[in-house]
Amino acid sequence: MFPIIRMRRYRKDQNFRDLFSETSIRPEKLVMPIFVEEGISKPVEISSMPGILRYPLGDLKAYVKHLEDIGVKSVLLFGVPSHKDSMGSAAYDKNGVIQKAISVIKDNTNIITIADLCLCEYTDTGQCGLLKDGYVDNDSTLEVYRKIAKSYAEAGVDIVAPSGMMDGQVSAIRDELDNDGFENVMIMAYSSKFSSNLYGPFREAAESAPKVGDRKSYQMDYRNQREALREIDLDVYEGADIIMVKPAIFYLDIIAKARERFDLPLAAYSVSGEYNMIYNAVKNGYLSEDAIRESLVSIFRAGADIVITYFTEQILTNSK
Ligand code: PBG
Ligand code: ZN
Repeated sequence: MFPIIRMRRYRKDQNFRDLFSETSIRPEKLVMPIFVEEGISKPVEISSMPGILRYPLGDLKAYVKHLEDIGVKSVLLFGVPSHKDSMGSAAYDKNGVIQKAISVIKDNTNIITIADLCLCEYTDTGQCGLLKDGYVDNDSTLEVYRKIAKSYAEAGVDIVAPSGMMDGQVSAIRDELDNDGFENVMIMAYSSKFSSNLYGPFREAAESAPKVGDRKSYQMDYRNQREALREIDLDVYEGADIIMVKPAIFYLDIIAKARERFDLPLAAYSVSGEYNMIYNAVKNGYLSEDAIRESLVSIFRAGADIVITYFTEQILTNSK
């Protein structure tokens, strides 16, 4: 008998397709990154990331209230400090830009605050750690990460997200938080973060490009899949609450494997270069706007539970 099983029966019209859909983009699963900058008086558009702005602290309250209105439930915070030095000391200043941003958001909304924890925006070298003889020194960097974690926790952060790819960063931060009485602050670990060409626009946004050298001595080699799973495994043992793969779309194989192997909540970070490629192709009419949803669905379908994307605000605005 000629086709008994007809797959097209599932696809008859939109209602049928929706009934059989396996994946969806749920608003509460999207995280919106926010850049907060010291020393500016009004929001500034980031030229490498059209549609994304850097906000002064003074405009943050109105912006996050707007995000809450359209259904954003969590944000990932990045600071652009006016002072950089060799220790990255602005990162653990109790009056630092992120510390203040955390209180503004906690005081005015119910949005979950996730603070990126790294040094590259704060060091005069633009490296994610402290330099010793020209090499990023692991263990002295961990001491600074502890200070940053403590000061974000004191400001009331919900989740810290260490992104520097230093060995032992999750256990050092867990130990610090627990010793300081912040056992309820969660850790979202940038577990397998690749040394990727897709971070270019972000580095302009956060003024965090390395002044000399690159990040290949700590971020992962993009040729490696098994090593990525080892990195995640280590973070699980060190006490991460949430694991992450970054970037997302060029790394769907890693997301799918991580989903099979680990039972922790899995986040994927669709980074600035992914945003830029898709945004510009849509804007120029080369791709339909639905390509944005298709790209996000691909990340969820691969197995991510949480997606960090610069499209969060746009998607929720359009679905309102
Ligand atoms: C800092 C950090 C980076 C991103 C998030 N945290 C950049 C980097 O490692 O250069 C990238 C985000 C993006 O490109 O959207 N450690
Ligand atoms: Zn960094």
